[in-house]
Amino acid sequence: MISRYQKHYPVMLPEVLQYLAPRDGELYVDATFGNGGYSEAILKAADCRLIALDRDPNVLARAEELKTQYGSRFEFRSGCFGDFAELVCETIDGAVFDIGVSSMQLDEAERGFSFSKDAPLDMRMSQSGSSAADLVNSLPEGDLADLIYTYGEERRSRAIAKRIAEARKTAPIATTRQLAEIIYTVNHRIPGQIDPATRTFQALRIAVNDELGELQSGLEGATRRLASGGRLVVVDFHSLEDRIVKNYFKANGGKNVHVSRYKPQNQPINPGIAFSECSKAITPSPEETAENPRSRSAKLRYAVKQ
Ligand SMILES: C[S@@+](CC[C@H](N)C(=O)[O-])C[C@H]1O[C@@H](n2cnc3c(N)ncnc32)[C@H](O)[C@@H]1O
Repeated sequence: MISRYQKHYPVMLPEVLQYLAPRDGELYVDATFGNGGYSEAILKAADCRLIALDRDPNVLARAEELKTQYGSRFEFRSGCFGDFAELVCETIDGAVFDIGVSSMQLDEAERGFSFSKDAPLDMRMSQSGSSAADLVNSLPEGDLADLIYTYGEERRSRAIAKRIAEARKTAPIATTRQLAEIIYTVNHRIPGQIDPATRTFQALRIAVNDELGELQSGLEGATRRLASGGRLVVVDFHSLEDRIVKNYFKANGGKNVHVSRYKPQNQPINPGIAFSECSKAITPSPEETAENPRSRSAKLRYAVKQ
């Protein structure tokens, strides 16, 4: 039987295994379980134990499958990886993060992540807390513009926020299609080019799920739990995420960090914690990008704890 849980293609899996380098008897964390593609491959690669985290309750059925297959070698813990150090109290030999949404989340129209299908404007990975509709209908126009500019890198954020503020005076914006149509009044669709709603939807998704805050505290929590020689592997998909990972690794590896007037600097979380090695960005193979276009923007970085 083909279930919905078989749809996600695990991005850069050979490279994840290469840099995580799982070994028999060791303990690993997959901080973004999703469809369990990484988890299952790690469990197959070595006779190790693995703890998987995810904030999305829809992954529980797939986690049960791995539990049945791997017994005490596998454990699933529900929660946000921003709470890594609270969810995982054990000392671990490696952790992997595959940042972003899964193909299942994008494809389940009712989750509201995608503007290609009409659905409630939701976007909550954990299915709790404020939704994208809550933000769009309640934020002051100026804050909405800042959010769309910062998280979506959308140049026309002010005009989009203005149109949203006008539209919601008549009735709340409730669906993905309604929002996309408002954006198209500012940024017109051009066949063959990226949909102009993409950047605003990305911005809302990042804000609804506090994706950047989660990433920063997830990295810190994982670093805290890593044993000496333990490996941290992160796969990310856009420049805002990648900047956080790059600066975090460099700041904690004692190397130079890009300095910006606008972004707070990462500080080493503790002088006693540092990486002995951190990689530059590694990109997917041409074979992988041809087979899975969603992998095109992926970047992998890894660091080794001192
Ligand atoms: C790209 S998918 C992971 C796919 C997985 N590597 C695989 O091979 O099947 C990302 C997953 O991370 C989860 N996620 C995203 N942010 C999270 C967070 N802050 N805490 C916990 N899980 C999160 C999402 O719910 C999603 O299931």
